[in-house]
Amino acid sequence: VSQPPESEFLLVSADPRLIDEVLAVAAAVAVQPVVATDASVAAARWGGARTVLVGDDLAAELAAMSLPIGPTVHLVGSDPARLSAWSMPLRASVVELPAGAAWLTGILAGGEDAGLSPVVAVVGGSGGVGASTLAAGLAYRAARRGTSTVLVDADPFGGGIDLLLGAERTSGWRWDRFARAEGQMGDLRPVLPTVEGLGLLSMGRRTVAQLAREPVSAVLGSLRRSYDLIVIDPGRSQLPGSLECCRLATSAVLLASCSVRGVAAAQQTLTTWTGVRPLLVARRRAGTGVGADVVADALQMPVAGVLPDDPELVGAAERGDPPGRSLRRRRGWGRSCATLLEALT
Ligand SMILES: Nc1ncnc2c1ncn2[C@@H]1O[C@H](COP(=O)(O)OP(=O)(O)OP(=O)(O)O)[C@@H](O)[C@H]1O
Ligand SMILES: [Mg+2]
Repeated sequence: VSQPPESEFLLVSADPRLIDEVLAVAAAVAVQPVVATDASVAAARWGGARTVLVGDDLAAELAAMSLPIGPTVHLVGSDPARLSAWSMPLRASVVELPAGAAWLTGILAGGEDAGLSPVVAVVGGSGGVGASTLAAGLAYRAARRGTSTVLVDADPFGGGIDLLLGAERTSGWRWDRFARAEGQMGDLRPVLPTVEGLGLLSMGRRTVAQLAREPVSAVLGSLRRSYDLIVIDPGRSQLPGSLECCRLATSAVLLASCSVRGVAAAQQTLTTWTGVRPLLVARRRAGTGVGADVVADALQMPVAGVLPDDPELVGAAERGDPPGRSLRRRRGWGRSCATLLEALT
């Protein structure tokens, strides 16, 4: 142990290269972690630390020790297999070096939140306006263009967004597995189902899960450290877990129907909205309806985009074909969805 015990940072590693790498980053932000080079010293220091950086060389040993929950734990190293194997048991986020050096700087400088990935919530101004379809379309498109993305379904009455992507039989965890999640969690990427590279956290269909706030905040915290973009479909239930999603969103879309009742409902939705100011997107309806200008006037917000009506989406949803994948034309709904994604990210 090279530093006084009151340092809030504890580094646990016996790998000289890893120690040098971390201490160099720490020195740059004038921080001096306590270094524990074996697991028993680490255990003695554990309770006094606010943040523990566990080197991947000692991860297995520490995971076997049932250390108290308390400090925020980050697993640091350059061996991808070890990092992914020990993240969950240690309830640690992963900092892969050298790529994650900037993020490590953030952790040591105390600006951890600044390194968290954006969360986009897609809110329907009225029922059935196409919010889930848009959330899935944005997430699918982001994943296809190479952004590491997860789509989070937080609507207990939506039937499971995995159906919309044809992934209802894809194995992996749904929300029911996270009912008791709390605090800091490890990297969830290995346990979540994927569709063509898009991570998916869906409601199950066996029971109506009562999403509580604590698991939602624990799970989103983890997803924000592992993926580059989180897209949420909170649904219109106003249950605690859905509200927590809306509160944590760093940007939001309010999808308002271009219809008289749709505008009235969107106004009501806005009055209960407590998150970041949303971008207003007008969903055009086939046949009758009001113009996007009327929607903007009524809600006293500029319209950031217009989503056209596309009957092909209905059949695609029934087949489990991800929204936007098989739209033949590079215009219409798919184009609007792509433009919106650019505006949001
Ligand atoms: N732009 C669109 N054009 C035509 N049909 C659409 C469009 N967007 C969605 N739909 C269809 O409308 C129906 C409802 O869509 P979706 O489930 O996405 O709405 P929602 O707003 O999430 O509904 P809920 O209020 O139940 O959550 C589905 O059949 C879907 O395929
Ligand atoms: Mg929905």
